This record gives sequence, C-alpha cells and structure tokens, in this order.
Amino acid sequence: MGWASKFKRDVCRPAQEKGWRAESAFKLLQLDEEFHLLQGITRAVDLCAAPGSWSQVLIQKMGSQGSGHVVAVDRQDMAPLPGVLQIKGDITQLSTAKAVVQHFEGSPADLVVCDGDPDLTGLQDIDEHMRTQLLLAALNIATHILKPGGCFVAKIIRGRDVTLTYSQLRVFFSTVVCAKPRSSPSSSSEAFAVCQGYDPPAGFLPDLTKPLLNHSYDADFNQLDGPTRIIVPFVTCGHLSANDSEHCYPLNAEGDSKCKDVLPMQPPILLPPRGPTH
Ligand SMILES: C[S@@+](CC[C@H](N)C(=O)[O-])C[C@H]1O[C@@H](n2cnc3c(N)ncnc32)[C@H](O)[C@@H]1O
Repeated sequence: MGWASKFKRDVCRPAQEKGWRAESAFKLLQLDEEFHLLQGITRAVDLCAAPGSWSQVLIQKMGSQGSGHVVAVDRQDMAPLPGVLQIKGDITQLSTAKAVVQHFEGSPADLVVCDGDPDLTGLQDIDEHMRTQLLLAALNIATHILKPGGCFVAKIIRGRDVTLTYSQLRVFFSTVVCAKPRSSPSSSSEAFAVCQGYDPPAGFLPDLTKPLLNHSYDADFNQLDGPTRIIVPFVTCGHLSANDSEHCYPLNAEGDSKCKDVLPMQPPILLPPRGPTH
C-alpha cells in the first residue's frame, strides 16, 4: 500500500472522534459484539495496554454497570486514565506478573485481555517465538487471577504453529475461538483467540515460574489428527456497516464543512528521536 493511501486511511478513521486513544478500540468492541465478553464484568486486566484504548473500552463498559476495577500493564509509559490502575513493566518478567497477581488476591478477575505486539526482528521463527512467549506470559498471569468461568482474549498470529497454541489454550478453557474483527486488516494474519469458560484441569496449580507453553515441542505436533488435533472455529465479527480497515476514506476536502480536523486523544508521551530524513 502506498504512503498516500495509508495516510488517507489512518487520518480519517473515527477513533479520535469517538474519544478512543487508538483504532484498536474497535477490535475489542467488535469482539464484544460477537461474544458479549464485557457483559457484567467488574474486574479486568489489560495486558500490553498502551496507549490505552482497550482500557478505555473496559472502564467505559464497567462504568455503565457500577464500579469497575481495571489493571493496565505495559512496558511503555501510558498516560493516566481515570479508574485504571497502571503497572509499568514487561509481562514476561516475574516481578511484573507478581505485581499484577497481587491486585487480584482474594477477588479474581472476570476477564484478562492481551493485545501485545513484541518487537519484531523480521526473522519469522524468532518472531513467532517472541509472540508465543508473550502469549505464554499472558496466559500464565490469567491462570493466577481468573475466576472459574472467566475469559481470556489474546492477539494471535495465524502462523505455522497456531494449532499448538489452540490446543494449549483448550487445556484451560471450555471454548476457544479464533476471531477476526472487521477492524483488523484482512491482509494481516492477526486474529484473536477468544477463550471462554476458564476451567483448568484437575490438580493444576498455577506457578508463575513455570512456563505453560514450552517451545521444545516436536515439529510434528501439528501433524496430529483425530481428537488430538483441536480445530478451533474461525469467526469474523463486526457489523458490515462498521469501519473497514482496508477501505480508503476520502481526505478532508477543503471547504467541506462536514469534515473537521481532530487532535489525537492522547499525544505520545515520548516522541521518537529525530533520525535523518531520506
Ligand atoms: C498494539 S499495542 C496495544 C494497543 C492497546 N490494546 C490499545 O488499545 O491501546 C501493543 C503493546 O504491547 C506492548 N508490549 C509488547 N511487549 C510487551 C511486554 N513484554 N510487556 C508489556 N507490554 C508489552 C507494547 O509496549 C505496546 O504498547
């Protein structure tokens, strides 16, 4: 996609108009439309939360249902959000995981979400490993704080070993669905694992120091068939009238009174250093 068309797409999408800090908000809203994840929840964790649009959605939905409690975690700074407790840290680090778990001791969470994007190298195997490590860390935290029947939603990449991920998630949740919100570009292999009905196997004792997903698995794992292979339903969500991430919206035409410029909801906390221009 050329710069101009991407530019058109990005500047005209309506997140700012609606008060969301990022377009990602629509992904969670569309997942909720399909799976009713946010109905009746009062305690939630937003892992990899910056700049905070998912936390905004969570707190807004809880606001209309009474007093909510959202813990947002990111290794980057995030501007404060009323009603959201922030923890700055890397979710793959024990100290961060412990800090999150501590907040839910005695009163577990209804929902854990993770929209994390690790720093990518461009080397497919390493990137897949990093993504899975992030998912592992999020799942590990979720197993410590979710109430029975609770939900876990995590970004996944529909890559080579995604079936393994589904199988492992199915160990802990009664349903696992691969969902693609309309606001997630169809050209991207990004999707979301929507895991409902937290129900760990009998005898399972969560342990923050022990990874749940282990990368030393056999390369043939995905070749299993029959009941050992978990086929997870694929669902697209978001109303047809919703904003289409692949569509180019017209630029703000001069003299068009219906169009108005809006400032970002939350300007970046740290601007990237200026590099040489080419
Ligand atoms: C796509 S953004 C999340 C957007 C967010 N859901 C929203 O709606 O505003 C991905 C985030 O993952 C965070 N992240 C990536 N790896 C992380 C890690 N190991 N620990 C904590 N945060 C991480 C990044 O800092 C980044 O802010």
